[in-house]
Amino acid sequence: MRIRGKDKVPELLHKSASLFFNPEQGSFPSEWLTAYHHVELEVGCGRGTFLSQMASHHPTTFYIGIEKFVEIIARAATLALDQHIENIRFIHTDIGRSLDLFPPESMHTIYLNFSDPWPRRRNEIKRLTHARHLAVYRHILQKNGILELKTDNSPFFDWSLQSLRKDGWVIQDVDYRVADLAPQGEETRGKYIQTEYEQKFRRLQLPIFHAIASLN
Ligand SMILES: C[S@@+](CC[C@H](N)C(=O)[O-])C[C@H]1O[C@@H](n2cnc3c(N)ncnc32)[C@H](O)[C@@H]1O
Repeated sequence: MRIRGKDKVPELLHKSASLFFNPEQGSFPSEWLTAYHHVELEVGCGRGTFLSQMASHHPTTFYIGIEKFVEIIARAATLALDQHIENIRFIHTDIGRSLDLFPPESMHTIYLNFSDPWPRRRNEIKRLTHARHLAVYRHILQKNGILELKTDNSPFFDWSLQSLRKDGWVIQDVDYRVADLAPQGEETRGKYIQTEYEQKFRRLQLPIFHAIASLN
């Protein structure tokens, strides 16, 4: 993702500070689990296009976005702040360092949207569907929770399905061409809420792949 306007970042972070959770300054607020129906997490939330839409559509669900680049997450938090969204928070971190960040079995859904495919074999370990990241998701997902994967990248998609199966996950649903328009009644499902990258790839008429995996 291109990072522009770095000079504005301190100002954006200051403005949107109330939407950040800093694990170094306190433990995970338990009221997020008790006050909401579900808690859902997007790993690699980018500029927050997906998460802000989800949070607006589902006010009884709490949304958390994780992003490793501060310049990018500053924009995600500012977008949510400008839209007066309350059921959303952001964490600036790398998911690889987040095993103890959330209570075990606290997440209902984890979204991996257009994750970096890291095509070179020597970089497999960085893929967000690598076993070392799946271990984090397994730890924080509820027993009946799900992981949703959406991408335009066919080799990454196939590799991810294999990685999930090898790790004992059950693939519940696979769609090799997600419809542009959601079926009636499904408009607000994560599968049909378009992310920033998705909008870009759809303009190029690329097929979008989606899968749902569960722990059993
Ligand atoms: C290709 S972008 C997709 C952004 C957004 N999900 C979308 O669909 O528009 C992938 C994002 O994941 C972030 N990311 C990659 N690896 C990460 C990690 N280990 N922890 C947290 N964020 C990560 C990147 O910084 C980048 O912003």
